[in-house]
Amino acid sequence: MSILVTGGAGYIGSHTVVELLNNDYEVVIVDDFSNSHPTVLDRIKELTGKDFTFYELNLLDKENLQNVFLENDIEAVIHFAGFKAVGESVSLPLEYYHNNVTGTIVLLEVMKEFNVKNIVFSSSATVYGMDNKAPFTEDMPTSATNPYGYTKVVIEHILEDLAVADNEWSPILLRYFNPIGAHESGRIGEDPNDIPNNLMPYITQVAVQKLEKLSIYGDDYDTPDGTGVRDYIHVVDLAKGHLKALDYSLNHTGAQAVNLGTGEGYSVLDVVHAFEKANDIKIPYEIVKRRPGDIAVGYADPTKAKDLLGWEAKHSLEDMCRTSWKWQKNNPQGYKE
Ligand code: WQD
Repeated sequence: MSILVTGGAGYIGSHTVVELLNNDYEVVIVDDFSNSHPTVLDRIKELTGKDFTFYELNLLDKENLQNVFLENDIEAVIHFAGFKAVGESVSLPLEYYHNNVTGTIVLLEVMKEFNVKNIVFSSSATVYGMDNKAPFTEDMPTSATNPYGYTKVVIEHILEDLAVADNEWSPILLRYFNPIGAHESGRIGEDPNDIPNNLMPYITQVAVQKLEKLSIYGDDYDTPDGTGVRDYIHVVDLAKGHLKALDYSLNHTGAQAVNLGTGEGYSVLDVVHAFEKANDIKIPYEIVKRRPGDIAVGYADPTKAKDLLGWEAKHSLEDMCRTSWKWQKNNPQGYKE
């Protein structure tokens, strides 16, 4: 029996595949390399000494996706594949809704056809929108401020409605807070296609002098130092959370939304200073105006993940800063060496 990992060559996907292989799961990856690189597959084999099956395809390619299920005995799916750039989604809404939502519907149709009803979905804390007050709990109403966020909200509803219509489905919706950091080896990590949208890859590209300085989006928020507060979680903790969610999905039915966060909020300046201290590097920055759509404070109540999945984050902010830098220092051009 195999685990199908869609988007398994991506940042979080590749870290999760490493954990799956290290725990003796059989793995099948589908990825279209729209936000990843073939080199990742070699690095996964190098790190685990294990092999896996790979298909280069986009989920919209239903016929070839059916072929994956024909050729492999899939027992569950971990679904990462999707576009994820908030800003880009505002200028390309159709592409985001088609790729993310239609792609997921095609995946679910094929899963249903082959009677595979266990799925772990890569959702996001972005579904908590602008109107909830941290710490965020899973029972709070969901909303979004951009098409990317809305694709996550809509897909959560699709999975919940599916589990109501057919009680054999067991979708686990993992709401990631802010994934940063990299595998201890520094051989896999976050490799954005263009100028990074997210904080940590921007910092590491300043540190490796690919970018000149960090722009901090606003220091006039109602927070201790005025900069935005987020719940940063080590990508390896996040990956391990997926194995706990997979185990839960395989042994239960019904839809469950679960926060994957530390429950600890850090400001932008906290992260900059932690990075500088952990790596003995100065990060030049400039305070600029707020970024539209940003919330002031967002962090998880991680209780449900602990009670339901028996999972909690273990890595410190220092670990996250140290491993982010190790990855970037050893791979200044990412996977495009
Ligand atoms: C973090 C903090 C910024 C960049 C988004 C998505 C979420 C997930 C992660 C996809 C904020 C500040 C950032 C910069 C800055 N996306 N910042 N300068 O916005 O919390 O979450 O990314 O998986 O779904 O919503 O993450 O890293 O962009 O921002 O000052 O150059 O850093 O204002 O306070 P965010 P982020």
